[in-house]
Amino acid sequence: MPQPQDNARAIFLILLIFWLATSPDSGPGLIAGPTLIKNRLARQRHALGVLNSTQWGDFAPRLVDDPPEPETPEGSEPDAETEAKYKYLNLTGFREEDHYAWEDLQRFRDRCDEWSANAVGIPETAQPVWQNATGVVRGWWQKANTSTPRYHSSYNLSAISPNVQWAGSNSDWSRNATGAEGKMMLRVEDDENAETEPEEIDKIVLDKAELKAREVSATATIDDVEGTGSSWEMRLHGVHWPRQGAMLLTTTSEKFQGIFGLPHLTTRAEFFESSQALLNRTLDKALDRKEQHTFTDQIDPWTSNLDAPGEAWNPTPHCEYVFYIQIHPLDQDLLGVQPSLTGPENVAKAIQDIEDELRFPQGTGHRKIPQLQMSAVVFSPDCGFFLETKGPPAFTHAEGLHLVGVKQEIFLHNVSTFILGLALIVFGQLQLLKIQMRETSTPSTLGRVSFYTGCMMLLADGMLFTGAAAWSFSASTTLLPSLAVTCVSFLSMTVGTFFLAEIHKVQEPEWRRQERERERQNTPATTTNTTNPLNRRPSPTTTTTTPRPAASPPIIIPSDQDIDAEIAEATTNNNATLPAPVTANTATPTAQNLRTQLSNIFGRLLLIGICILFLSLAAASWRPNIRAAYFNILLFAYLSLWVPQIYRNVYRNCRRALSWRFVIGQSILRLLPVAYFYIVPGNFAFAEPDRVAFLVIAGWLWLQIWILAAQSVLGPRFGVPKGWMPEAWEYHPVLREDNVEAGGLPIGLVSTPTSPTSLERVRTGDEARDKKKSNTNTHVIDCAICREVLEVPVVKAGAEDPTAGGVAGVLARRAYMVTPCRHIFHSACLEGWMRFRLQCPICREELPPL
Ligand SMILES: *[C@@H]1O[C@H](CO)[C@@H](O)[C@H](O)[C@H]1NC(C)=O
Ligand SMILES: *[C@@H]1O[C@H](CO)[C@@H](O)[C@H](O)[C@H]1NC(C)=O
Ligand SMILES: *[C@@H]1O[C@H](CO)[C@@H](O)[C@H](O)[C@H]1NC(C)=O
Ligand SMILES: *[C@@H]1O[C@H](CO)[C@@H](O)[C@H](O)[C@H]1NC(C)=O
Ligand SMILES: *[C@@H]1O[C@H](CO)[C@@H](O)[C@H](O)[C@H]1NC(C)=O
Ligand SMILES: [Zn+2]
Repeated sequence: MPQPQDNARAIFLILLIFWLATSPDSGPGLIAGPTLIKNRLARQRHALGVLNSTQWGDFAPRLVDDPPEPETPEGSEPDAETEAKYKYLNLTGFREEDHYAWEDLQRFRDRCDEWSANAVGIPETAQPVWQNATGVVRGWWQKANTSTPRYHSSYNLSAISPNVQWAGSNSDWSRNATGAEGKMMLRVEDDENAETEPEEIDKIVLDKAELKAREVSATATIDDVEGTGSSWEMRLHGVHWPRQGAMLLTTTSEKFQGIFGLPHLTTRAEFFESSQALLNRTLDKALDRKEQHTFTDQIDPWTSNLDAPGEAWNPTPHCEYVFYIQIHPLDQDLLGVQPSLTGPENVAKAIQDIEDELRFPQGTGHRKIPQLQMSAVVFSPDCGFFLETKGPPAFTHAEGLHLVGVKQEIFLHNVSTFILGLALIVFGQLQLLKIQMRETSTPSTLGRVSFYTGCMMLLADGMLFTGAAAWSFSASTTLLPSLAVTCVSFLSMTVGTFFLAEIHKVQEPEWRRQERERERQNTPATTTNTTNPLNRRPSPTTTTTTPRPAASPPIIIPSDQDIDAEIAEATTNNNATLPAPVTANTATPTAQNLRTQLSNIFGRLLLIGICILFLSLAAASWRPNIRAAYFNILLFAYLSLWVPQIYRNVYRNCRRALSWRFVIGQSILRLLPVAYFYIVPGNFAFAEPDRVAFLVIAGWLWLQIWILAAQSVLGPRFGVPKGWMPEAWEYHPVLREDNVEAGGLPIGLVSTPTSPTSLERVRTGDEARDKKKSNTNTHVIDCAICREVLEVPVVKAGAEDPTAGGVAGVLARRAYMVTPCRHIFHSACLEGWMRFRLQCPICREELPPL
């Protein structure tokens, strides 16, 4: 049996997902050789020494506008003047012989100053900004080239970093922005526990406002939209000057000792002093720690790769980035400072109040929190390009506002709200499902519900549960709401599983029957299969191959109200002539059998869900347009969930299986989270709103609901060509006397009026109420369920069907129901019976659901 392995595989995969989702990013990774680590630390120690021993102005590379170096004659002493003019640092990437694009350093510094001035004004009168930059921002950038282009062939990596084995240094480097425009997302982590550089070293009480500089780190995502289409994520380290609202961050790698040279890239001496003092201290501490644990802690603390344990031995070259970020002043209207008090101190005080309230909510005031806005200038000294954020004054407001986003607290609040909303939505789905289960509790109603529609809902709930559970593992601030989602989706999953199991129990015999029929079609020589009652169905494929019963079975009229006893009697008395109950002559599925079959199905569902989860995780790193296409297709497939139900309605010829409340409620609830990501511009996942895709998906769902409605009103097979579907059993057939050969007349009506039995009274057309010439005889019979008289119009032999198409005829036919085993009952009686059992009350043969 395959299912135990299936389950084992699934459980293994689930464990793998949990492990993937919960494993910390800072694991030790692969164990690199200790000498490798020691060498790296020695290089970094040396770099720190360089940083400690240099001063402002020690890095003064030759600039573009400088006159070309005079040709010094071979062997002669270098010109003392140029020696003094151009200064380089003995740091990897900062040396003259490395040939990085430092001739544009002054341009970078000018741009930084210009962008700061645009944002907050000149340094002397700079406006106060947020002191805590922790948050997420995003926006568009525009590329500018350096004065001389750089290619990967411009560099000799083995000369720049002699001790490092580079992988793929002869191909284009990664993170190489090639398009003219693209997107950028920055996640700044401005930690209050980070090392800081106080205003005055010996001040005893350190006030936050008195800080000169603070260490900061950030994660940048650069989307090269117009160029390669790829997106790169990188980790940046640097310094934040809270008073000025400026940050300088850089990547660090084996070919660029960015963090050690960072103070030399600042724009002002003041920035240089504070950052050098700060970095001297903090880098020393970090190196000390690393030197003590060369074996257990091999991660380079300043690496820009988020996940690459192999980086230590075989790094791949990538472009280096230097980010200058300027935080923008807050919207004065939202700040709520009184007009008379708009001095910088008052504004700073107001900002301080907002930040305190955000971090430690006291419930004071409910004001709108201004957004977090930054502008950035990015310089890549090795790949030779600038990325500048788009916004005023160079661009209009509509074209871009530099980088806009929210502070961390607001971001987390948004996430929590979304997750809570999700919990409510899943709770609503659960309630709808419970109500629907109460309504469809009988075999005949369960038989109408599509198993696959249920499967799709269960699959979605299960994936939500897995996602929420994995999220809860690592969530801290959003733990409670995500636990709520986990619980509700678990409940929803359990109830859904139960519902599916019920549906399965009812529909399983039908599937087996289909399988048998398929088998029989494959082996047409099954003429001996006369005992199978199904052969007598007017199915076009089977009627031709099966012989008819030689004679009509005897008339069976029940004698008392005890249906069960009658059934027992009937089955024992007429075993020879009546078809035996299905359950007797085919392999009955035991409960055990059913269960394994069901767990097989659930195992398969689990595997599908896990595959989709893995694929979606992988999709996160795909090109944006492919990723968008993938998610659009996935959602389209998910929200096609009524399609199997529509098919089943057609197949079973039933008008409506699920209540309108369930269909519409589920559709709306399942569409809502999708709508959040597709329509809301400021959604927390920063998904680009895509109204067109959403309209297509919502329209498709809307169309499915309309088709369900049309099926309910116009009939399930409305618009479906005849012959596409196996004919469903017609419970209200036109009865004809000359149709005896097909066994067409129900038991009890077979005898002709010329030889009436004692139990059957026949009135011919003249005696009937209608005085007109009539083609029908009305046969009268007792209904086995209610024992009342049942009048059945039967078309006389050779006569035209007078009621063809007539409403009266249709209504007359609606009064009685004929089962496949050719028993006839009042419609109301049999329908009532079928709500509880899908078996013929007389012979216990299985009945097709309505
Ligand atoms: C930096 O240099 C000074 C002397 O110039 C020395 O006292 C100090 O220990 C050095 N700091 C580090 C971290 O190397
Ligand atoms: C630069 O540093 C290296 C060690 O990394 C050292 O061997 C070399 O002598 C230094 N060069 C200068 C000019 O100081
Ligand atoms: C790169 O540098 C190494 C070591 O300095 C040298 O041996 C090699 O010839 C250089 N390669 C090129 C292409 O210049
Ligand atoms: C970056 O891309 C440009 C344009 O495709 C290319 O010419 C250049 O060589 C690349 N730079 C590096 C370092 O790979
Ligand atoms: C800034 O806010 C974040 C989020 O509340 C907090 O974790 C961090 O410590 C704060 N940083 C400072 C410097 O206050
Ligand atoms: Zn009846």
